[in-house]
Amino acid sequence: MNELDLKVVDQLLSTTRSIRKRLDLERPVDLAVIDECLELSLQAPTGGNSQGWRWIVVTDPRIRAGLADIYARSAEGYLKQRAEELKGSTDTQNVKVYDSAAYLVDVLHQVPVHVIPCIRGRRSDDAFGNASLYGSILPAVWSFMLAARARNLGSVFTTLHLKHEAEAAELLGIPENFLQVGLIPVAHTDPAAFKPVSRQPLDTLRFHDRWSD
Ligand SMILES: Cc1cc2nc3c(=O)[nH]c(=O)nc-3n(C[C@H](O)[C@H](O)[C@H](O)COP(=O)(O)O)c2cc1C
Repeated sequence: MNELDLKVVDQLLSTTRSIRKRLDLERPVDLAVIDECLELSLQAPTGGNSQGWRWIVVTDPRIRAGLADIYARSAEGYLKQRAEELKGSTDTQNVKVYDSAAYLVDVLHQVPVHVIPCIRGRRSDDAFGNASLYGSILPAVWSFMLAARARNLGSVFTTLHLKHEAEAAELLGIPENFLQVGLIPVAHTDPAAFKPVSRQPLDTLRFHDRWSD
């Protein structure tokens, strides 16, 4: 049982992408499969084993439309600025990300499931406190996305709607002592969407023993 098929595991880890354009907006998602993925995500670590996580699985079209509206208002300025920065750019990877991010704004209300991960606690000025807070939910978020990908569900971790965090909290009824950390649209996808991309070379990012330039 401890013998993992490294080929499969490494493929999962290297091909789980942010899926936006290939989200199937028509096909419903079985919520039992979302629960399966969430169940797996609960194996992630939390600070002091606090397990202060909560997950809101949104399928109600009115609430998805409300979130999409908040997201669109949040995205407006950001996308305008990115468009300026990318004008005439030959950086095809980032131009693609921009196109795809802009597309998501238009269709978010149609994505069948929105998952909102939340964590108990509030932000503070304390580095330890903030690392512990976000560190007690983001590993689980990524586990959820990996589990979804393994079931041919596409997803993308987004944070833009948090520019209007309070409005979204009210729409979703999130209590004061919990923090939403993102919005994950989830839908069926074409498995061909899952492929590796190029990243910066490790040698430019990893130091031994001490930071070096
Ligand atoms: C902290 C964080 C915030 C993100 N916020 C958004 C977002 O608001 N909207 C969006 O479309 N993508 C968002 N993304 C997805 C990134 O754009 C994406 O991960 C990146 O372009 C790399 O693409 P890949 O995940 O397919 O490799 C976010 C990713 C992270 C890690």
